[in-house]
This record gives sequence, structure tokens and C-alpha cells, in this order.
Amino acid sequence: MEHNNSNIMRSSRQQQIALITGSSSGIGFETSLHLARNGIYTYATMRNPSKSKEILDNAGKDNLPLKIQRLDITDTESISEAVDKIISEKNRIDIVVNNAGYSLLGPLEQLQLDEIKEEFETNFFGTIKLIQNVLPIMRRQGYGRIINISSLAGRIGLPLSSAYVSSKFALEGLVESLRYEVQPYGIHVSLIEPGVIKTNFINNMKLGKNVITSNNNNDDSNNSPYVEIIQKRISAFKPRFEKGSSAGEVADVVLEAVTSDNPKARYLVGEDALKMMEKRKNTTDEEFAKLVMNSVLGRDSSS
Ligand SMILES: NC(=O)c1ccc[n+]([C@@H]2O[C@H](COP(=O)([O-])OP(=O)(O)OC[C@H]3O[C@@H](n4cnc5c(N)ncnc54)[C@H](OP(=O)(O)O)[C@@H]3O)[C@@H](O)[C@H]2O)c1
Repeated sequence: MEHNNSNIMRSSRQQQIALITGSSSGIGFETSLHLARNGIYTYATMRNPSKSKEILDNAGKDNLPLKIQRLDITDTESISEAVDKIISEKNRIDIVVNNAGYSLLGPLEQLQLDEIKEEFETNFFGTIKLIQNVLPIMRRQGYGRIINISSLAGRIGLPLSSAYVSSKFALEGLVESLRYEVQPYGIHVSLIEPGVIKTNFINNMKLGKNVITSNNNNDDSNNSPYVEIIQKRISAFKPRFEKGSSAGEVADVVLEAVTSDNPKARYLVGEDALKMMEKRKNTTDEEFAKLVMNSVLGRDSSS
């Protein structure tokens, strides 16, 4: 097996090299610093390096092994440039954290196909491109950890989130299949499934351009039937995110996945995610649909 023949397998004394996408904010920001604090040489990548001041200030204070690299996950060239740069500097990549992502919001009927494709370019196809770039390197090394930030929304459907949810379901299917292909070469692929996490995620959420959020006329035939649910869902976001778990909790779990000898296929993060998946096991689809609606529309989940 290639894995056994490799003469550059990772020695336990060698410093590990990580590449993280979307490090300018939230989960990517915290995870980059956390890995670096734990001695991993971390390339904190971002599409816009002018957003790097805060992470560099944090890393500088503790003299952490962290470097900024430009990487736009929707730009194939910037992905291969980032990977080539790391290889030219460090000659290996042990860890990749696919984190960059955002949510497109709106009823499917009012979303444009191009908007849904854009969502998939970032949350799904970009991840594929990066994985395809690093797999030959990791196979040669006989070692690699590929961590993918999915979501509770990678396990359950949510109203007005069909584009986001389907991009994360696609990611789940990709990882579940890829695991079998690469495990013989010492490469472990895992999914991280956070519930609600307090980050810039809601500010960065995109509302579909054709989504109607209010009805202004008395002519019923021109009114959107989705306005009420959109308004309820949007007004429930803020209180839900204020109660969310911290990005640091996700970073802890990423570190667990990269340091474990036998990383799990999936890691749920946050009380809300754990509770929801526990309920999913013990309810019918119909019962579960009521729980989902109560939860995302901000109603009492026990009602
Ligand atoms: N927050 C939650 O409740 C939650 C729950 C479950 C899963 N997640 C997942 O966690 C991941 C991180 O989200 P977050 O909560 O940390 O949100 P966030 O604070 O909005 O961070 C998103 C990051 O992705 C980056 N990004 C977006 N498009 C990109 C592109 N084309 N190329 C490179 N980077 C890009 C953003 O960069 P810019 O600063 O340039 O925009 C930002 O750094 C996402 O995959 C999200 O789906 C979040």
C-alpha cells in the first residue's frame, strides 16, 4: 500500500502544517488561532487579506506560528497558488479545514438558479477543488486530516434555507463517500456539524434578490404567500444567534479531530445541535417537522 511505502510519513516530532479557509472571521478566525496556539503552523487563508489585522495582532501577541495567505474558494487559481506556496515553503500540508461559507436565504420559488449556483460554488465546489489539490500531496505524505465545517443544516432541512441546506447535505454525502477512498493512504476526513454559533454568519447571510419580504398592495394575486414565514424567520434569527455557542467551541472540536488517532466521521457541536439530533432519532418525520418549525420561528420548542 502506498501509505506503508511512503518515506515521508509524518514523524511525531515534526511540526504540523495546516491550511484553513475563511479565517477572516468567526469559526475560521478562532480555529486558526487555536491550532497555532497548539503548535500547529497555520496558514490562515482569506479571500481579502486586508481583513487580517485582528488575527495578526492576536497571533503577534503570543508569537504564534500563523501566516496569512490569500485564498478565494471560488477562484481555482487562488486555491492552487495557495497550495503551491505552502508546499514551496513547508513541503507538506497535514491539515486542511474547509470552513469558508455563507447562507443564501429565501423560499426556493423566489431564488434565482444563479444565486443557488453561487452558494454551491462557495460551500461545495470550492471545497472539492481544494480537496483535489491537496489529496495528491497527502497521499504522498501518507498522512492527512481534512476537516469540513458542515452544519446541523447538513443533517436536517430548514424552511427558507433550501439552498444552504442542500449545499451542506451535498458536502455530507461527499465526505461520507470520500472517507472510504482515502483512509487506506492515512488520510482521515471528518465533518463538523455546529448548531447556532455566534459569529458574523447572520450579517453575511444573503437574501435572494427576488425574495419578497413585505406585501404592499391590496391585490391578493400579486402578494407573496411567503411573506409571513420570512418575517418570522428573520426576526427569530437575532435572539437565536445571541444564545448561540461560541466559535471557540467549534475550534476545540476541530483540534480534537486533528489530534485524535481515530477521528470520527462526524462531530456535532453545541447543546442545540446535540438536542435536535437526539430528538430526530426518536420522532417521526411529522413530529420532527413541528419541532423544526417551532425552533426556527422562535416559538417555544415544547409547544
Ligand atoms: N454561525 C453558525 O451558526 C454556523 C452554524 C453551522 C455551520 N456554520 C458554518 O461555519 C462556516 C463559517 O461560518 P461562520 O459562522 O464563521 O461565519 P462568518 O463569520 O460569516 O465567516 C465566514 C467566513 O467565510 C469566508 N468566505 C465567504 N466566502 C468566501 C470565499 N469565496 N472565499 C474565501 N472565504 C470566504 C468569509 O470571508 P469574508 O470576511 O471575506 O466575507 C468569512 O471569513 C461556514 O461554512 C458556515 O456554513 C456556521
